This record gives sequence, structure tokens and C-alpha cells, in this order.
Amino acid sequence: MSHAHPDVQDRANHASYTGADAVRHYPRLSHLHPAEKVLFDAYDGDLRGRTVLDIGVGGGRTTGHLAPLAREYVGLDYSPALAAATAARFPNLRIEEGDVRDLRRFDDASFDAVIFSFNGLDYIGHDDRAIALREMRRVLREGGLLLLSSHNRDHLRFHLLPWQGRPRPGRSVLRSSYAAWRARANRRRLRAHEVIRPTWAVINDDAHDYSMLTYYVGADESRNQLRAAGFADIATFDLAGDAVERDDRAVWLYYTGRAA
Ligand SMILES: C[S@@+](CC[C@H](N)C(=O)[O-])C[C@H]1O[C@@H](n2cnc3c(N)ncnc32)[C@H](O)[C@@H]1O
Repeated sequence: MSHAHPDVQDRANHASYTGADAVRHYPRLSHLHPAEKVLFDAYDGDLRGRTVLDIGVGGGRTTGHLAPLAREYVGLDYSPALAAATAARFPNLRIEEGDVRDLRRFDDASFDAVIFSFNGLDYIGHDDRAIALREMRRVLREGGLLLLSSHNRDHLRFHLLPWQGRPRPGRSVLRSSYAAWRARANRRRLRAHEVIRPTWAVINDDAHDYSMLTYYVGADESRNQLRAAGFADIATFDLAGDAVERDDRAVWLYYTGRAA
């Protein structure tokens, strides 16, 4: 059986998020995903007038939606380049470089809500994920809300996502051929590090031209991990924001839980 060495996974993913492509891509985004629209409305009481920590803030896609609601908003990202780009985009907000696995700069119980959007938690290894979940629990006050999304190991084709990506409108022929060449090289380098377990997997999927090793977790396992980290009242939602137990067609799922 192959093993995703956590260092290989960490290095590949961090490099991808500090690279020029990520820095070009993420700061352009400002839309909410359909499920986020539903869930930000449904949990409005946990966000409005509250202290909110937005981890993996990337280029600030969620910032313009969450910061105006919050009494206090902090955005955090382990990519120095993305944290800097978001700080420049929102100069009046507190946006910092930081890793979810080490939230020591924040006291226990200092937030009402912690958000880790767009599957950002899926770029650290299986063991580190438990550390990250415990850190997010620690900085939440009792009853505080955790909202995150994660790639879905229950998806029928979780390990067969499209090879060579989709044509990207707006990419020049030169850039497309370069991207295809780079995707092939990335695939050759990283596919040996894939891991497939019954309840979770680490997959070299098509994200950022196959430059990453992404964690996929089944809904039951994900809820178990959240419970083990000290969360209760855990709910699972599909891509439309409808409550589900499992879903074998959703590439990722959304989870909410309350610090217990
Ligand atoms: C898929 S991107 C999403 C960015 C942004 N939330 C959005 O939705 O556009 C995932 C983000 O999580 C960040 N990230 C990944 N692992 C992290 C970690 N261990 N600590 C903090 N941020 C992390 C990445 O740098 C990246 O910006």
C-alpha cells in the first residue's frame, strides 16, 4: 500500500498555495457558493455581531460577506502570499499569516464562530487534521459554531476525477499547453503518494493542475472526527445546502458543529 508521507503532502500543497497561480486566482473571487448562501443565512445569529475567525481565507472570497456581519473578524491563511494579498484587498481588517494547526496566538474560547471554507482543511494530512480540529475547538467558546467543507470520500468517483482537467476559457493556447505539460509532470511526481482507505483517502486530484494531494473523507468518518475533537450537534449538508447523512454524488460536503 502506498503512503502519503505527510511531509510530501504538506510541501506540495503549501507550495501550490504560495505559487503564482494561486495568488492570481484566489484574490479575484468574491462570490459565495450556493450552500454557503444557505448556511450563512441559516447561521446568521452565530455570525452577526459575533467574533468570527475565517481560516484559510485565501484571497478573501468570504471576507466581504462575513466581515460586515461580524463584530470582530480575523482572516488567517498559511500562505504568506495569499495572506498579504487579502490584507492589501481589505486594509482595514485583521488578516494574518497563520496555520490552523497552531492557533496559539488566540486565547481559549475567544471566538463565537470559526469558518474554514472551500475545503481548505483538506490540504493537511490525516493526523494533522485531528490537531487542527482540536485547535479550532479550543478557540471557540462553548456552543460556538464551526462551519467547514471537505472533499467527500463517499463520492462514487472520488479517485477518478477528470484527467487533464477541463478546458479553461480565457487561457491562451500557450498557457494551456504549458498547463497540460505541468499537469502531467505533477501527476508523475505525486500519484505514488495517493492513499486509499475505507473511510478516507489522499488523492492527487485535478486541483491546480494536479499539483496537490487532497484529503477526502466519508461523512460518517468526518462526523466521528468532529466528535472526537469536542464538537456536538453535527450536521452535514450537500452542495445545495440541504441536510444529508451521506451523498455519493457530491464532490464535497459541508459540516457544522457546536463546541461542546
Ligand atoms: C481552496 S483554498 C480556498 C481559499 C478561500 N477560502 C476561498 O474559498 O476562496 C484553501 C485555502 O486554505 C489555505 N490553507 C490550507 N491549509 C492551511 C492551513 N494548514 N492553515 C491555514 N490555511 C490553510 C490555503 O492557503 C488556501 O488559501
